[in-house]
Amino acid sequence: MTAFPGKPALPKDATPAPPSTLFLFGASGDLTKRLVMPALYNLARDGALDPGFRIVGVDIVEHDEAGFRDYLTEAVSAIGKAAGATPDKATWDWLMERTGYIVGNFDDDTTYSHVGERIAANQNGGGAVFYLAVAPRFFGSIAEKLGHAGLLEETGEAFRRIVVEKPFGMDLPSAQALNARLLGAASEHQIFRIDHFLGKETVQNVMALRFGNGIFEPIWNRNFIDHVQITAAETVTVEKRGRFYDATGALRDMVPNHMFQLLAMIAMEPPNSFDADAIRTEKAKVIQAIRQLTPKEAAAASVRAQYAAGTINGESIKDYCREDDVDPNSQTETYVALRLEVENWRWSGVPFYIRTGKAMAVRKTEIMVQFKSAPHTLFRDTPTDTLQPNALVIRVQPDEGISLRLAAKVPGRAVRLAEVDMDFRYADYFKTEPSTGYETLIYDCLVGDATLFQRADNIEAGWAAVEPILEAWASVSDEIHLYRAGSSGPSAADDLIERDGFEWLRLDDGRPK
Ligand code: BG6
Repeated sequence: MTAFPGKPALPKDATPAPPSTLFLFGASGDLTKRLVMPALYNLARDGALDPGFRIVGVDIVEHDEAGFRDYLTEAVSAIGKAAGATPDKATWDWLMERTGYIVGNFDDDTTYSHVGERIAANQNGGGAVFYLAVAPRFFGSIAEKLGHAGLLEETGEAFRRIVVEKPFGMDLPSAQALNARLLGAASEHQIFRIDHFLGKETVQNVMALRFGNGIFEPIWNRNFIDHVQITAAETVTVEKRGRFYDATGALRDMVPNHMFQLLAMIAMEPPNSFDADAIRTEKAKVIQAIRQLTPKEAAAASVRAQYAAGTINGESIKDYCREDDVDPNSQTETYVALRLEVENWRWSGVPFYIRTGKAMAVRKTEIMVQFKSAPHTLFRDTPTDTLQPNALVIRVQPDEGISLRLAAKVPGRAVRLAEVDMDFRYADYFKTEPSTGYETLIYDCLVGDATLFQRADNIEAGWAAVEPILEAWASVSDEIHLYRAGSSGPSAADDLIERDGFEWLRLDDGRPK
């Protein structure tokens, strides 16, 4: 057993990324051990890293270099063990031979002098990536310190890139302020804002599906599509993230970033090319086209809810308000459902429903594009009224795949129709395991491909679209809805979609109720 879950995501023949030094700010933190190091291990195992690649952890936690390597080895083995994977020793040793550490305070100028020395010490190449796996309050200041120390100046092959994790701001003004600080220190082409959903194979496959097949484009518009649903249901609770999550909530945590990236993939216009900026321009345009709601409209088009005690997979779950580090009177939503519209020529009048929540019945991220009903006059005397229209369902995770819902004749003398699915499962065709997205994203950053990273205008457009909802919720003090942990969400969310005569895709078997 050599692979961490989530790999291999890259073809074995991926050209190794050019030699560079990856500085991991926040090297002793959770993200580094849980996602970044396993992804680097997987990249090393696939031969996607150059022998001249170096990792340098930067953190306040006191370790000497060997101590840091021991810490990583232990932390990553424990994570691998929990997931049933054991790192291959030779690959892990290869990575550790290239790993060093700087003890340093992020506010201290000497930390950055040490960073500069390490860049100079990598004889193999001058490329440097500064990965900010740190609390968001440090994003702006680390970028500025790097800039003041001259570490963001690029010459020849010596690229300089900053990777910023989410949350990217808490609202539009804070996102704009953060963008301004980052762009004061570096150029847009040097800033790689991560949205790990974009690293998921199935998310990228939406573009292949839409633009690599001739049959979809002619019907991919308001004349043929009735509505679109995007669901990201999670079974996990707030777990140990109460402090962050209670101040954030499901809307900020998932919608302007992950959910809008899915929406953009579905709704964007075909780009002129697969150039990073061509794609990101189309995505920004469609997110900017999400209709700006008035606070009153936003209140009517949104449902916020919080999970209450229940059971998930036989495990008892307590009320959200009783979770660790959560305010016992918290009004923070762990679930949100929205009805949005994209105001452009292609989508005018087509509702986009979005829902995401924690502690739900199943883990399922899916996009459903429901087409308009066929005129059923031919089947007037048959029970077609219960028949659902054609729908294309893109299963982002788990059980990655795509299915098309069709009507078919039930065998027998009477003419009766039933729904059937044409189903494509990734696992049946491609022998890859689902990816967390981090391998693809780290590799792309090392080779300088920004396609799957968010540009400043993408981020700001996302926040602009959710801003009226945040305002509506802040001004209306009605109680938050509750839903039972292990359920499909609050009944108010059913009302939201049923008002328009539609139903949510069921979370259990993927078929409408
Ligand atoms: C993160 C959110 O960005 O995405 C989490 O902060 C959420 O709250 C996670 O659980 C979902 O990602 P995935 O890849 O598990 O679907």
